[in-house]
Amino acid sequence: MGCHVRRGLPEIGFISASCHPPTAGFVYETVRTMNKRAKIFVAGHRGLVGSAIVRRLQREGYVNLVLPTYEELDLREQKKVREFFSVERPDHVFLAAARVGGILANSSRPAEFIYDNLMIQSNVIHAAWQSQVKRLLFLGSSCIYPKFAPQPMQESHLLTGQLEPTNEPYAIAKISGIILCRSYNRQYGTRYLSIMPTNLYGQNDNFSLESSHVLPALIRKFHEAKVSHSPHVTLWGSGAPKRELLHVDDMADASVFLMKLDEERFSSILSSSCEGLLNIGTGTEVTIGELAELVREIVGFKGEMIFDSGKPDGSPRKLLDVSQMKKLGWEAGIGLREGIDRTYRWFLDNLQNLRM
Ligand SMILES: NC(=O)c1ccc[n+]([C@@H]2O[C@H](COP(=O)([O-])OP(=O)(O)OC[C@H]3O[C@@H](n4cnc5c(N)ncnc54)[C@H](OP(=O)(O)O)[C@@H]3O)[C@@H](O)[C@H]2O)c1
Repeated sequence: MGCHVRRGLPEIGFISASCHPPTAGFVYETVRTMNKRAKIFVAGHRGLVGSAIVRRLQREGYVNLVLPTYEELDLREQKKVREFFSVERPDHVFLAAARVGGILANSSRPAEFIYDNLMIQSNVIHAAWQSQVKRLLFLGSSCIYPKFAPQPMQESHLLTGQLEPTNEPYAIAKISGIILCRSYNRQYGTRYLSIMPTNLYGQNDNFSLESSHVLPALIRKFHEAKVSHSPHVTLWGSGAPKRELLHVDDMADASVFLMKLDEERFSSILSSSCEGLLNIGTGTEVTIGELAELVREIVGFKGEMIFDSGKPDGSPRKLLDVSQMKKLGWEAGIGLREGIDRTYRWFLDNLQNLRM
C-alpha cells in the first residue's frame, strides 16, 4: 500500500543519551496540519486504541510511522525512552500506551495501575518536550471525573469531587497526565492535548475475564455460553448503571481529526477554559442491562441473564458532555448495534488470536 511503517528500533545503544531540551526562548514550530511525511510515534500501537489509530493513519496515507513494541521499548524506563526520542525525533506523538483494565484488574492491582501509568506518561511527555515534538495527544479516560459529577460530565468538572474508589489509582495517574500536559504547555509553550474518551470497544480489544472492560466481557461470556449450551449467564452488578460506549474506529477518527486541525483551531483548544482537555464520546448512554440484552441478541445466546448484585456496580452514570468536540466539527458516526455487530464478527474471525 506504499506505506513505510517501521516496527522495531534502530541500534541506539551507542548513541549518547544526551538530548538537550529546547533552549530558553525556543518557539515551537507551528504546524498547519500533520503532513503525510511527518514522523509519527504511536505509543501502544498493538492495543485497542493504538492499533485503530495506526489503521486510520495508514488508510490516510501517512508513510512514516514509528512503532516500537513493548518488548523493544518499555515506556516505564526513562533512559530508554529518552534515547528513543533522541534518535527518532518524531514530529507527532499519539500516547495510547497505558496499563488499562476493568474494575477487577483495577481493584486487585492498584499499584501497577498507578505506577505504570505515571511512569509511561511522565517519560513520554518529558522526552517529547526535550526532542521538540510538535504535537502530542495524551489519552486519559472518563474515570478522571468525580464519581458524583453532574451529568453529562464537562471538562470543567475535573478535580471538583471524590473519585470512584475502585479505580482511584488509575484516575489519579491520568489526572496527573493532564496536569503534566498543561504544565508543559504553560511553562515551555508545548502543544499537547489531553483527550478523555468514554468506554471504548472494537477490534483488538482485551477479552480477558480478569482485566477486560464491560463490552468485551459481555461478548465473551455470551459467546462461550452459546457454544457450551449453558442455560444462563451471570453478570457482575445490578445491570442498572448507565454507560456510554464509543467504537474505537470513531475514537481513532477523533484523534487524527484533532492532530490534523489547523493551527488556529488547535491553539483555540489550548487557550480555552478547558486548557487542552477534551471529552470524546457519543453523548448517549444505555444501562448495562440494555447493553447486555443487545449483546445477547447479536451473539445469539438464547438462555437466561442473571445479575449478581453482590458484585460492585462502579459509578452509577458516566456520560460525557461532548459539546466541545461538536463545536470543533466532530461527531461519532458508528451506532452501538453496528459497532457491536462488527466487533462480534471480528471476535469470531480471530478466536485463535484473541487477547484473553
Ligand atoms: N479501552 C477503553 O475503554 C478506554 C476508555 C477510555 C480511555 N482509554 C485510554 O486509551 C488508552 C489506550 O487504551 P487501550 O484500551 O488501547 O489499552 P490496551 O488495549 O491495553 O493497549 C495498551 C497498549 O499499551 C502498551 N503498553 C502498556 N504498558 C506499556 C509499557 N510499559 N511500555 C510500552 N507499551 C506499553 C500495550 O502493549 P502490549 O500490547 O505489548 O501489551 C498496549 O499496546 C489508555 O490511555 C486508556 O486510558 C481506553
